Amino acid sequence: PTSERWRALDAYFAETLVGHDPALEAAVAAQREADLPAIEVAPVNGKFLHLLTRISGAKRVLEIGTLGAYSTIWMARALPAGGQVVTIEAEPHIATIARANLKRAGVGELVEILLGRAADVLPTLEGSEPFDLVFIDADKESNTIYLDWAARLGHPGTVVVVDNVGRGGEVANPATERSDVIGTQRGLEMLARDPRFDATALQTLDAKGWDGIAIAVVV
Ligand code: DHB
Ligand code: MG
Repeated sequence: PTSERWRALDAYFAETLVGHDPALEAAVAAQREADLPAIEVAPVNGKFLHLLTRISGAKRVLEIGTLGAYSTIWMARALPAGGQVVTIEAEPHIATIARANLKRAGVGELVEILLGRAADVLPTLEGSEPFDLVFIDADKESNTIYLDWAARLGHPGTVVVVDNVGRGGEVANPATERSDVIGTQRGLEMLARDPRFDATALQTLDAKGWDGIAIAVVV
């Protein structure tokens, strides 16, 4: 379909099923105000993460890549009593914006932001209570490292979601020279071959364009 048609369809889905939420919209506005890249998940995708958290009954959620905490708010709002989201952000000034957005959304107490490169922070989580859902949405070059930690910090049944596995079709290009796409390909190959996972991927066509998400369960 033409871009106008699928954009209209996404807007229709979002208007019909997601609606408007002042705190989520304020989080996006604050992110734009701070000149952060507009790479938070689309509203329909945020709602998808929210529903996935609820459907899985996840009580402990790990997010790799906080940005303005838009997806974090969506998942935090899906937690049962006593639940927690741990989210990792590399950039201190971005974490400051995320913290304000979480507080405004009323979920500040449910979310712990860990500051640092995820590859350095993840080993510090070893020995903590296992995570029930892991959302990987950081530098794509490190996706295999993040998947390894998702398996190590999860348990059989843990849900793993990887964002941005389509990239306008470029992820199907075996000759790609983009390091982020190569990282994404390695991650998908790991999901296929590593016996700790069972996985699939879906294309997405939404407010953020043509992309995809992978979903896996820890075996
Ligand atoms: C980029 C990163 C993302 O996580 C995303 O959802 C979209 C784009 C990027 O780095 O370009
Ligand atoms: Mg993303």
